[in-house]
Amino acid sequence: MQDQIPQSATIPNSDYVIFGGTGDLALRKIFPALFWRYLDGQITRNFRLVATSRKPLAVSEFAEKLKPFCAEALGGLKDAEPVWEEFIKLISIQIVDIASGNGAAALAEFLSDKADARRPLIYYLAVAPALFGLSCQLLKEAGLALPQSRVVVEKPLGNDYASAEKISQEIRSVFNEDQIYRIDHYLGKETVQNLMALRFANVIFESQWNNNAIDHVQITVAETVGVGQRASYYDKSGALRDMVQNHLLQLVCLVAMEPPSHFDANQVRDEKLRVLKALRPLKAEDIMRGQYQEYEGEIGERSDTETYVALKLGIENWRWAGVPFYVRTGKKLAMRASEIIITFKEKPHDIFANGRDAEPKENMPNRLVIRLQPQEGVRLQLISKEPGPGGMRLFPSELNLSFDNTFDARLPDAYERLLMDTARGNQTLFMRHDEVLAAWSFIDPVIKLASQTPPSLYRSGTFGPKDNLFGNSPENWIDPKQDTD
Ligand code: BG6
Repeated sequence: MQDQIPQSATIPNSDYVIFGGTGDLALRKIFPALFWRYLDGQITRNFRLVATSRKPLAVSEFAEKLKPFCAEALGGLKDAEPVWEEFIKLISIQIVDIASGNGAAALAEFLSDKADARRPLIYYLAVAPALFGLSCQLLKEAGLALPQSRVVVEKPLGNDYASAEKISQEIRSVFNEDQIYRIDHYLGKETVQNLMALRFANVIFESQWNNNAIDHVQITVAETVGVGQRASYYDKSGALRDMVQNHLLQLVCLVAMEPPSHFDANQVRDEKLRVLKALRPLKAEDIMRGQYQEYEGEIGERSDTETYVALKLGIENWRWAGVPFYVRTGKKLAMRASEIIITFKEKPHDIFANGRDAEPKENMPNRLVIRLQPQEGVRLQLISKEPGPGGMRLFPSELNLSFDNTFDARLPDAYERLLMDTARGNQTLFMRHDEVLAAWSFIDPVIKLASQTPPSLYRSGTFGPKDNLFGNSPENWIDPKQDTD
């Protein structure tokens, strides 16, 4: 049992400026993550956390609003109350109106006393993407686009290739690529990072990680929530844009990429980009869209937006030729669980097949199950002999590395890791301009093709509509199990 997940090296004193600092993302994710980092000592009293707001707001009022979100992230403030009081002393509110530019000069004035090329100045644009360009211009005009500045943006980075390119150009007209941090929060998840450790820090998998040994790969990202309050965004987006273009394709990249020579931001991203470029264009029979039955009732109008999608992907290179990657994601499914399952090929010859005692006779391939959330961990399914004198009875058993049982520490939220990386200046877990565009150029035609057929309705609490993506293969979707222990 390991006592603590080692916390990474110290972070340079930095200023975080959260545009839209009093909005939903800031309250739910950004500030609770910063609070956790303060609790763990990575953020110190020398940091400044600035929330921009359009309307005047006292820090005390903001703190009251924020407190329940931080308490929830911690599972209750209890003993952390004194630390909370210290933490809010780092926060200041600056009134800035991005559209008119009002307040930018005052913000620049506020930040100027600590301006130093060694002190990272991080602007988190927690605002609508339509305001990304304006925000960057505002920073430039206020003299705040400095060499030590970094800008953090998050999806939706466009809703197709053309709009993504436009947004990207607006940001790139002010900041260099090495100053731009495009968040895909899936890359900040501990288990997703662990996938790279599993593949590239162990020798045993590499020789099996190809089309000689692997039959197929399945990726399931299942959610129980519906679209809730986000209908106006979601109905224009759908699962293909909301989840597949970014999170699921990033997972495919991490499974499929070649080993980079170094764990270096551009090398990792170069390899992921190669995967995106090798994706085979899809045909209609590779796509299944679904919509949960209550969806139209919830959003109050007729809609063909998919709340579920399943795809059969192919990667056109030597390593993966002939190995299907099945990916699916949906809302209002049977359980919240994300899993990557690598299914290995059947053994070339089964010495037990005709044996008198051998059983069962059915397929029992080895599978590597990487559970991303919840109950994070990795399981390797093997075939063993059932103990006892009764003959050679075979049964599937598991080597189980449950993170809960292995590490006696909480797994930090993805935003904690990613926010600290912006101060460290480490872009490895952020998407590069060309990756985002490559993902859109793959997804745009998929969306076009998919929209020719209305989504199939599915009952909430199931794993989505039936599909025929596996064709004649004896395999099918493997639904996540509730309990992995
Ligand atoms: C977001 C999507 O990017 O990811 C949401 O916009 C989705 O629709 C969410 O619910 C899922 O994230 P997680 O971390 O809960 O798996």
